[in-house]
Amino acid sequence: MSGLPRHVACVMDGNGRWAALRSSPRTNGHRAAEAAVIDVIEAAHAAGIPWLSLFAFSTENWGRPQGEVRFLMRLVQRVVRKHALMLHARGIRCRFLGDADTRIPPSLAADIDALTTLTAGNTRMTLTVAFDHGGRRDIVSAARSLIREGVPPEQVTEESFARHLPHPDTPDVDLVIRTSGEQRISNFMLWQVAYAEWMFPQVLWPDFRAGHFWECLDAYRRRERRFGGVGAPARTAGVAAPAATTGRS
Ligand code: IPE
Ligand code: IPE
Ligand code: MG
Repeated sequence: MSGLPRHVACVMDGNGRWAALRSSPRTNGHRAAEAAVIDVIEAAHAAGIPWLSLFAFSTENWGRPQGEVRFLMRLVQRVVRKHALMLHARGIRCRFLGDADTRIPPSLAADIDALTTLTAGNTRMTLTVAFDHGGRRDIVSAARSLIREGVPPEQVTEESFARHLPHPDTPDVDLVIRTSGEQRISNFMLWQVAYAEWMFPQVLWPDFRAGHFWECLDAYRRRERRFGGVGAPARTAGVAAPAATTGRS
């Protein structure tokens, strides 16, 4: 299919509300999110999308109740272990975008390392899991790294700056899908989403499936990306011109 995005990113939002609608604890919403994650990975893989990024845990999410944070750490570990071989078999290179310093439990960090190493040579698709991720933190760490290397100010360009971000080979995001109806960035891949198209399906993440993903791809193909230029005239044909004004203003 032509006109597909090269890099799709999902802000997987709405787990808590999904659970609340069922009068169950928020953790049940997180548990139910796994099926959506796997469906979307499979859909992106089938569509031939080369780059897929999923926002799983933000630097701000550490502020949630301890029990919920602990549950999320355990859940991510279980998902990583359970699906590692499937991801590898599909030729998916997996990597994590987040701080390695870190508050992540050591055994989870080890599983993340193992998955990253196992799949490092795969080329069909790159799956980036933003986990303990903050867009501002990445920008600050790039600035620190430039300063540490003694790069002279006149050599700091958008290109050289981007090379100091984590995973600098990551292309700009073309399409961000944020589920649950919330319409904000929430500190997600701030540098990389500079010119992304955004979609806000009114679906809670645990209910999001391949069909919704395909709908977003389809809508993306109908968007005109201008990057600050001027649109093709045909695209503005349906937009009413303002009524002609007469007289002096
Ligand atoms: C997204 O769902 C999952 C994470 C942020 C880890 P939420 O937990 O934010 O769900 P809502 O927004 O409260 O419904
Ligand atoms: C963003 O969702 C983070 C993830 C989806 C992992 P949040 O639910 O944490 O964001 P806010 O609080 O609505 O901005
Ligand atoms: Mg949320």
